[in-house]
Amino acid sequence: MVNFAPSILSADFSNLEEEVKKVSSTKYLHLDIMDGRFVPNITYGSPIIKAIRPKSEHIFDTHLMIVEPEKYIKEFAKAGSDIITVHVEATNHIHRAVQMIKNEGCKAGVSINPGTSLSTLEYIIDEVDLVLLMSVNPGFGGQKFIKSSLEKLEKLKKMVEKSNTDTVIEIDGGINFGNIKEVVNAGADLIVSGSTIFKGNPEENLNKFRKILESSWFLMKETLIVLNGLYTNNKKEFLKLIEPYNNIIAVDGGYKFLKEITQKEPNTIIGDFDSLNRDSKLLNDFNGEIYEFSSDKDKTDGELAIDYCKKNNINKISIIGATGGRIDQQYGNIILLDYALKNGIQANIIEPGLQIGIIDDKRTIKNMINFTLSIFSLSKKTTINKLTGVKYELDNHILTRESSRGISNIILKKDVLIDVSKGKLLYFICQKCW
Ligand code: DX5
Ligand code: ZN
Repeated sequence: MVNFAPSILSADFSNLEEEVKKVSSTKYLHLDIMDGRFVPNITYGSPIIKAIRPKSEHIFDTHLMIVEPEKYIKEFAKAGSDIITVHVEATNHIHRAVQMIKNEGCKAGVSINPGTSLSTLEYIIDEVDLVLLMSVNPGFGGQKFIKSSLEKLEKLKKMVEKSNTDTVIEIDGGINFGNIKEVVNAGADLIVSGSTIFKGNPEENLNKFRKILESSWFLMKETLIVLNGLYTNNKKEFLKLIEPYNNIIAVDGGYKFLKEITQKEPNTIIGDFDSLNRDSKLLNDFNGEIYEFSSDKDKTDGELAIDYCKKNNINKISIIGATGGRIDQQYGNIILLDYALKNGIQANIIEPGLQIGIIDDKRTIKNMINFTLSIFSLSKKTTINKLTGVKYELDNHILTRESSRGISNIILKKDVLIDVSKGKLLYFICQKCW
């Protein structure tokens, strides 16, 4: 879950109570304390925190950009801070400072400037509740995001995962609508934003941030399962589709395909004994993880891939390609989505190997399961009412038909949905949910 911490540094100080109210939809409020020594600017001190504390339910996320922060920890805790973050560069005794914060009953955070190495956190990362990564040189709001922060964020994410702690990763400086996705994708859990939120209508800006993130959940650090039996001859599109995924699992023949089309190496290859041996030459110079599953006549490779994900706590996946070997390939993907959902894994299928929404002789949808963010699940037997043009109504969802290609083979008549025997793509989006 990604949270926002509006920084009141960009708020209208002459009307602070109102400004704080305008961002009451966030859990956190970011408070930038600057002393004119650690950073070339002076902002405000504990009296401001004390003044707004009774006016706000927010978790007060106090960012101390002051030298010798140890001297002021008690004061900021007393004023009402919930989290106190100090800079490793601002003290000679970061471990002591962190203990002092905890002794005051606050959550402890450490922050590092853009030029400071992550290695400075090595012996403190297990002690803190939060790491605040500066993506601008601290001192002012409205500065430009420093691009190298993304790679640093990814490394920090790995560091936190390795430390096996619930340390929150906070990013601060230059976050805007254009880079929010990348920042979250790189591993940020808590987003500080001052100028982007407080310029204009804060609530609208917050909703805009949320909307951007909502509409790209499957682009986020998700796992992509590449199944065999891909139909795409559109290499360029395929590359575009798989580009955002940083964890790729190739199943059975999916590896061969991935290699041929993209020269991209997956992180993991899973297959049964036969398939792994069939492609043994190909696998010779593969450096990633190879996982052999014992083939199961009652399960498709796709389902065995889902089992693998479950075993490895992978709970959000995208699937590309089609599961082979099932009676009716057309159901392959839909059944697979169903199987994933039943195993508590959020899944969607991305073009090109998608087939959905099969009609049966009763002209009703046989089965259709979530495939994009605006997820709605239908009971097995559902009738879809055609409204106008490409609009359909189903279970209070106003669906518009979306398709990126091959629409020609779709026969749309009153209450008959589609015929996808040619395996072309069609999916629906609910305008209300999207
Ligand atoms: C800068 C502060 C930031 C700043 C962020 O030193 O620590 O919290 O207010 O402001 P924007 O989002 O405008 O960069
Ligand atoms: Zn800050």
